[in-house]
Amino acid sequence: MSISPQFLDEIRNRLTLSEIVGRRVKLTRAGREFKGCCPFHHEKTPSFTVNDEKAFYHCFGCGAHGDALKFMTEHENLPFIDAVKVLAGEAGLQVPEFSPEQAKKAKKQKDLYELMDEACRFFENYLFEPRNRDALSYITDRGFSIETIKTFRIGFSSEDGQELRKFLEERGYSSKEMIEAGLLKPSTRGTEPYAFFRGRVTFPVIDRRSRVVAFGGRILPEHMRPPSRSDFTPPKYINSSETVLFHKGQMLYGEPQARRAAADGQKLLVVEGYMDVIACAQAGIHGALAPMGTALTSEQILALWKMIPSDEKVPVLCFDGDNAGKRAASRVAENILPLLEPGKSVAFAFLPEGEDPDSLVQKNGAGALKRFLDKPMSLIEFIWQSQTQGREFKTPESRAGAQKILFDIVDKIANRDVQVHYRTLLKQKISETFFPRRNNDFNNRNKKGGRRPILTPPRPPSAQINTVVPKAILAAIMNHPHIFERAEEVFVGLQFKQHDYARLRDAVVMELSDDPEISRDNLLESLKKSGFSQEIGDILNESVYVHASFSAPGANEEEVTEKFLAYVNDANGAELEREIKGRWKKAYLDSSEEEETKLRHLISMQTAEGA
Ligand code: UTP
Ligand code: MN
Repeated sequence: MSISPQFLDEIRNRLTLSEIVGRRVKLTRAGREFKGCCPFHHEKTPSFTVNDEKAFYHCFGCGAHGDALKFMTEHENLPFIDAVKVLAGEAGLQVPEFSPEQAKKAKKQKDLYELMDEACRFFENYLFEPRNRDALSYITDRGFSIETIKTFRIGFSSEDGQELRKFLEERGYSSKEMIEAGLLKPSTRGTEPYAFFRGRVTFPVIDRRSRVVAFGGRILPEHMRPPSRSDFTPPKYINSSETVLFHKGQMLYGEPQARRAAADGQKLLVVEGYMDVIACAQAGIHGALAPMGTALTSEQILALWKMIPSDEKVPVLCFDGDNAGKRAASRVAENILPLLEPGKSVAFAFLPEGEDPDSLVQKNGAGALKRFLDKPMSLIEFIWQSQTQGREFKTPESRAGAQKILFDIVDKIANRDVQVHYRTLLKQKISETFFPRRNNDFNNRNKKGGRRPILTPPRPPSAQINTVVPKAILAAIMNHPHIFERAEEVFVGLQFKQHDYARLRDAVVMELSDDPEISRDNLLESLKKSGFSQEIGDILNESVYVHASFSAPGANEEEVTEKFLAYVNDANGAELEREIKGRWKKAYLDSSEEEETKLRHLISMQTAEGA
């Protein structure tokens, strides 16, 4: 009895070596590897390492070395076939019964890999033939270097449907094999089978073990194609169909590079197509992968998580920012919910409408794309936004409806821990949104555990306010808490020079965010309890009210808000003015270019504020 190499691969792919070994030997994480005391010789300091990336263990003490199966045979002293059975069980697989035919099949598959490699080399060489100058220049004009072309083994397939077959036949392969590998299609007219890819740029799909398993083919632009006989428009891309070597839904284009990048700690990102993966890699973003003409499957998500060695496994999925992109993202989000586990999620990056990573990177460089990747939207934020954005929830029925939809979504999360956290966060978000009706953002939550984030709008760098001014501002808010609703944005954005006043401001914001309806007396009481008695005494007194009458208790309620806003605005303006004057002088004296730049910035800010 023999076991197919495919089956063994399947076992290795499904299991994580450190888990298998870790169940039998105590291991601790050491960077990307695990370390422990070697079970194969006696030692006190650990020199036994397990590398999940390579799926190998190695002992630097005694040289023991091998994979999961070797470990089971050596460590558990199992016969090979039993080791396979144990591991297959752990991987949830059934050991197939073996027959001579199956052994033959395994051998045949090995031949098919070689066949695919020959075909790939044929396409690669063909691209550089002088008669295919157009095809080559199409690729280079799109910004791909010769080095990139070689790295990704990009090629070109002949218009002539027989050329590839003849070439491969000379090397001893049969048409039957070529059909099996998806390179030829049988003819319906009784003639010779003909090539599947004709007149197309070819992109080999290479698996994690660097074997060519399929191809994608892109059409040349119309002016480079021979005129077609009918008005049939061929599809822009075609992909090999499923074969014994190629299971579209289980692998991703770009796996070998991305796997290495992930091991190096780079982010993984999922893009839409071949060109995107290649453009990213050329621009130094090596973690890009793409499905091949299909939506992302569960198996692909699981594979992505396995590629990431760190505990936080969150690949970024890129979509076009248009509605079609959002819909595609929604479908993926839905599929991912049942798979979520602690530490495992996805995030979303929405690119500007009509752009893909290829176009962004080629036009504006890697930085342009990285900006979108650096702050991706979390899955929960995406779910929230896609259910609430652009909609009003005025009636109790509509609010209850939205809540039901959100909770139904959460129910699809299979992992209990993750589900609990989703539910809690969404409940919070719902109450924040439907009750105090304020601005919320999952990414902006304040650290003190207050229910609402404090918004800090950008302000001029040094628009600080002095002496009595901050007192008047604080007095106005404390004496008239109801103005907070309209004054909030300005108030939270102020920079107080005095640390105590900044703290008091934050405390006021917290109180009012928790209860916008709070009365003056209760607010003051609460602030005193938080230790601000002294400041309140300094602020709420006549010396301040004389300077700014609107801040006094009992001031004309109608006018307080307007006066407050005008006052803050003036205070800022005056401060900015002073600062600019001072700096002009300094810049003039020092002839400092740096100062001048800062100055221009300040002035532009002043103009923008006045507008
Ligand atoms: P796009 O049509 O967005 O093309 O398809 P693209 O990648 O931007 O291509 P260029 O820039 O015009 O060359 C994205 C992906 O969808 C699949 C392919 O995998 C492609 O890379 N696709 C697209 C198909 O499988 N068939 C098609 O006809 C079109
Ligand atoms: Mn494109």
